[in-house]
Amino acid sequence: MEIQKEEIEKMLADVKHLPEILVLADTDSTNRVGKEMARAGAKEGTLIVALSQSGGRGRLGRTFFSPKGGIYMSLLLRPSLPMEHFLRITTAAAVAVARAVEKVTGKETGIKWVNDIFMNGKKVCGILCEAGTGAETQKTEFAVLGIGINVRKQTVPEELKDIVGCLEDFSEEVNPNLLIAQVLREFFGMYEKLSESSYMEEYKKRSVLIGKTVTVPDERGTYTALVTDIDEEGRLVVDAKGEIRRIGAGEVSVRLTEK
Ligand code: BTN
Repeated sequence: MEIQKEEIEKMLADVKHLPEILVLADTDSTNRVGKEMARAGAKEGTLIVALSQSGGRGRLGRTFFSPKGGIYMSLLLRPSLPMEHFLRITTAAAVAVARAVEKVTGKETGIKWVNDIFMNGKKVCGILCEAGTGAETQKTEFAVLGIGINVRKQTVPEELKDIVGCLEDFSEEVNPNLLIAQVLREFFGMYEKLSESSYMEEYKKRSVLIGKTVTVPDERGTYTALVTDIDEEGRLVVDAKGEIRRIGAGEVSVRLTEK
């Protein structure tokens, strides 16, 4: 099934913030397009969807493999949030995607801090939220929330088959329009209430890291620690041999020591 703007719009007809949807056959990165449109004045709720990306971007400067058969989308937001709460957009989006994937596939999902959606121990979705400043003001004026979901089998790179999965590993046919609409519906339901951070309880319940031992890189190499919590600002709280540390999302990516 193809991604179609009209289908998504029909499914969201009752939603207050009905997004302005743009579907591109191919682009380098929907996040890049989103930022460009934001700087040119596009309004909150603009959604850019691409059927494939030639330069999909991931966290920490990585690339995101984006052939046809996946969902690659970026939502432009102009949040009235203090900068220190911007990470909440990402954590709320992770909850939104986890719920939406569960509804559409009927299978359980988990969240690997910060923003990867996991099914059966494999990553099926990544989220990259980028903040942008106005050309003149240098103040944070917008955020581009990028979501990449592996739907069909061809979206899983051969060399990453052990750690990356796709929705079709768990469900026969996934309707991408329904999934996009459901992600947006869930996200907008939380977006108005980001200052309350009430979705954090669910985020933590879905966390695949709490209670597990992880390997954390630091300036001297790596150390292992037990994940005890995730705080209100989305930082990972770990116990490294009795020393409690808080790890900010932008800093590192941690590795599960055991599955
Ligand atoms: C990650 O796993 O590190 C985050 C991946 C985010 C990928 C999405 S796909 C749509 C949007 N456009 C991009 O270039 N990246 C995000």
